[in-house]
Amino acid sequence: MRLADFIDANLDLLLSDWRNFARQLDLRRSAVSEHALQTSARSLLRQLAAELRAGPQGTDNGEAAHGVTRQAHVHARNRLRAGFTLTEMVAEFCALRANILERWGRETDEMGTDAREDLVRFNQALDLALKESISRYSAGLERARDLFVGILAHDLRTPLGAIAMSAQALMLTDELPDRCREAATRIGHSGSRMQRMIDDLLDFTRTRLGSPLPLALSNSDLKDVCARALDEIRAVHPERDFLLECQGRLAGRWDANRLAQLLANLLANAVQHGDTDRPVALRVRRAEDGVIAEVHNQGTPIPPHMRHQIFDPLMRGPRHGIERRRTGLGLGLYIARQIAVAHQGTLTVASSESGTTFTLWLPDDPSPD
Ligand SMILES: Nc1ncnc2c1ncn2[C@@H]1O[C@H](COP(=O)(O)OP(=O)(O)OP(=O)(O)O)[C@@H](O)[C@H]1O
Ligand SMILES: [Mg+2]
Repeated sequence: MRLADFIDANLDLLLSDWRNFARQLDLRRSAVSEHALQTSARSLLRQLAAELRAGPQGTDNGEAAHGVTRQAHVHARNRLRAGFTLTEMVAEFCALRANILERWGRETDEMGTDAREDLVRFNQALDLALKESISRYSAGLERARDLFVGILAHDLRTPLGAIAMSAQALMLTDELPDRCREAATRIGHSGSRMQRMIDDLLDFTRTRLGSPLPLALSNSDLKDVCARALDEIRAVHPERDFLLECQGRLAGRWDANRLAQLLANLLANAVQHGDTDRPVALRVRRAEDGVIAEVHNQGTPIPPHMRHQIFDPLMRGPRHGIERRRTGLGLGLYIARQIAVAHQGTLTVASSESGTTFTLWLPDDPSPD
């Protein structure tokens, strides 16, 4: 009997074997009913039989392969929801292959040309189903993780806001002893740092989930944005020197909050990774069709092979500057570049013995249409 006919004729038997195998896995944790698990297995078997029948030169071959792919995706989604691990899902496919071939082999006395062809095509179709299931399963898992991190980062903002407000209230209390005031200041600054990390994490998961960074464009002045970003960093690092130089008309249509976030990330990097006894300079000027902002610090140059990679998420370079312990997530430059790109601008780096400079170029109006 041809393998496709064998699968169709023995569908219930094969499914019961499959069920017995799945029962060996601990599916009490399953969020999906056994019926649903069986339904997706049944459809997958039917599609495998259809693919076998289509034959290598079959006119509907592409359609059948498409059917296998589609069903493999449904199957993977189902397994992920049911709490199968990736290993369990792969083991299930292996068991399916071994089981079908064993049962079919018992009924096929001679291995003729047809049978050999069936065997090859069955393995190809099953490998396609397996590959597609793995890729859909992995994508689903990544998405679930990103969502989890996104929700966590989002929900952490509220309690953190309460901490920052309470620290602020304490700092404004006249009769507070000096030691308590210092402690309240430290709480406030650590809160701001956590806030920045959480904002970055939230933006990171948002872009990983496929959404572009939302921008609220309005008429803004880059000079004000720079002043704001500098105020923030000065509050956290009053011991450091900062220079601000502004030249020309610096007005444009931008998202001022996002640009402040971008500059705050660059300034924090300059403080964190640059020489501690040298000033950090922020220079902004008019360019031909936009504006340029540069953040410069002295210190150990970024190694040439790292200059591209540092813009990748979760990528951190060698440790120097004040960074004795690792505190960053390696997201600052990734977010900064995402903000620049969302404004249709660019963010680049140059680094040598004379210092490290990050250069932001922004068009005056990213949405002229
Ligand atoms: N101004 C700078 N001078 C020298 N090295 C820098 C500078 N800015 C960034 N780097 C290098 O680039 C790496 C990536 O920077 P990025 O801002 O993305 O992450 P981070 O600062 O390590 O952590 P996070 O910003 O998430 O707190 C840093 O770890 C550092 O090695
Ligand atoms: Mg950083």
